Amino acid sequence: MHIEERWCLGLKKLVINGQKPLRGEIDISGAKNAAVAVLPATLLSDGPCRIENIPDIKDVKILKEILEQLGADVSFEDKNTAVINTAKVNSYTAPYEMVKSMRASYYLLGALLGRFKRAEVSLPGGCDFGFRPIDQHIKGFEALGAKVEIEHGIVKVYAEELVGCPIYLDIVSVGATINLMLAAVKAKGTTILENAAKEPHVVDVANFLNAMGANIKGAGTDIIKIKGVQTLNGGGTHAIIPDMIEAGTFMIAAAATKGDVVIKNIIPKHMESLTAKLIEMNIKVTEGEDFIRVQGTEKVSKANIKTLPYPGFPTDLHPPAAVLLCLAEGTSTITEGVWDLRFQYVDELKRMGAKIKVEGRIAVIEGTPQLSGAPVKATDLRAGAAMVIAGLIAEGKTEVHDIKYIDRGYEDLEGKLRSLGADIERVVK
Ligand code: EPU
Repeated sequence: MHIEERWCLGLKKLVINGQKPLRGEIDISGAKNAAVAVLPATLLSDGPCRIENIPDIKDVKILKEILEQLGADVSFEDKNTAVINTAKVNSYTAPYEMVKSMRASYYLLGALLGRFKRAEVSLPGGCDFGFRPIDQHIKGFEALGAKVEIEHGIVKVYAEELVGCPIYLDIVSVGATINLMLAAVKAKGTTILENAAKEPHVVDVANFLNAMGANIKGAGTDIIKIKGVQTLNGGGTHAIIPDMIEAGTFMIAAAATKGDVVIKNIIPKHMESLTAKLIEMNIKVTEGEDFIRVQGTEKVSKANIKTLPYPGFPTDLHPPAAVLLCLAEGTSTITEGVWDLRFQYVDELKRMGAKIKVEGRIAVIEGTPQLSGAPVKATDLRAGAAMVIAGLIAEGKTEVHDIKYIDRGYEDLEGKLRSLGADIERVVK
């Protein structure tokens, strides 16, 4: 049985009895979107890499299995720390059966290309909220000297030699930025990525590669210079950065339930766009060195949000923020600036009494005094988190179905919420 089917068995729904304010302290896990890039990046190393603060989520479990099938030795010391040795990997092929449930499988392309000058990775076609193009990844591989063909759903990339060059990304893309860093790190000469993504996980991957001997400068700005090196040595330890989207999810949940939560083990600077919006919405936010405290308020003020690449408001917090704006006085808007099809959560929230209209890429949200519990489904990972927050504030019982999406990217979401006083149970059928 395929790994995804095994996990889907028995994991059916979350049942939430709402209207309990969240109170207490919570530790944030390592960032999913850094981990799903750092793990494939170990393919570029000549020796063992010890990775700490790996989130215990389904995407990581799938990636572990993929790396093992390629020939890597992956051993977990505990649920968040792994030693990965890719020395024995001798395959550059990741077929459909291996990658079909791993949305970020495109990082195998850059990593295998960087290591073997060759990669064949079958990509999952659609995604939770629409088709994900990889034209910018391909354009970059070609600029580095690779030939790229797509045959029978398999992306085949091959290069006699990878040679660094300037690459201008037409769109700010996290995936393309990281993938091209992976491919260029051992290329001959210097690659200059312009209009690069500035997300903290781009910096995390660059730091990991640099710690192994790569020469990457400028990660976190929109121009990244990658001077090719011959080898990357393992042996180092790298701790994955805290998950800014998980942190944001808890910040919004604390505000929405009118609770009082200290969100720990985070980098408050990564949260600035959300912190500023919450303050604008009349919510009390206090920052410490590695924590943020969020105290809810009776009267949430309306707000207008536009999602943008970092340091803008993250698209992955759009659905959770929409739930909070359902409680605001007056009419708010969220303009989606990254993904076209991020609005599937809207129909589900309407089942709970939300008043939301979608006009093009804008959700127009009219505040309502109360949501009412209902059966709803997670249409994707972040929509799933939004349904859980809606369940926490709604009157009565909410059942969130299709929680396999939530398990992909949140470490023990219901356990962490329960520790803050939520009445939430996983019901296994
Ligand atoms: N795009 C292109 N061509 C490309 C690549 C991207 O047109 O070659 C477009 C996309 O269609 C999208 C925009 O550029 O409209 C941004 O896409 P990006 O490449 O930045 O997204 P991604 O790398 O595929 C990552 C996260 C997403 C997050 C986005 C935006 C991972 C594994 N995924 O996706 O996270 O929404 O960046 O920040 O890092 C999630 O965690 O739930 C999630 C979906």
